[in-house]
Amino acid sequence: MATLLIVHHTPSPNCQALFEAVVSGATTEEIVGVRVVRRAALSATASDVLGADGYLLGTPANLGYMSGALKHFFDQVYYPCLDETRGRPFGYYVHGGNDVTGTVRGIESITTGLGWRRTAEPVTVTGEPGKADIEACWELGATVAAGLMT
Ligand SMILES: Cc1cc2nc3c(=O)[nH]c(=O)nc-3n(C[C@H](O)[C@H](O)[C@H](O)COP(=O)(O)O)c2cc1C
Repeated sequence: MATLLIVHHTPSPNCQALFEAVVSGATTEEIVGVRVVRRAALSATASDVLGADGYLLGTPANLGYMSGALKHFFDQVYYPCLDETRGRPFGYYVHGGNDVTGTVRGIESITTGLGWRRTAEPVTVTGEPGKADIEACWELGATVAAGLMT
């Protein structure tokens, strides 16, 4: 069975709403043969990353970058996972107050370094998520998970 690892930093109800939508999409009944593992960014380990076949990342925009928690995750796993995870599929979502540009740039840069392959458009949301934002997160989860079905 394939494993999809969701690594997220979720410090507020708005971020929680996006996270829940991503999980809902990834675990919808049409997705079969994919185990979904969720890890808060501060508790995710290199073993989690090595043991998964694809990744979903979620973060708020903080001070023009990804959250310190997601950055810490990448700091921990980058070199231990560099050789073995190249080419694996991933997607991500970002929640911000008004400008997520630097966050997107940071995630794209690190995942390019890792050689991960983005298989869905990033979802970026500012302010309170609307119905379309929740649906986009659901689609994100479903798309990346469906890509792991064999
Ligand atoms: C210290 C701090 C820095 C932040 N920096 C940014 C930022 O650079 N860009 C942005 O769009 N939002 C920024 N925000 C807003 C957060 O992204 C936002 O609070 C978070 O996504 C949670 O959303 P919510 O407060 O609407 O629930 C910042 C928030 C804090 C607390």
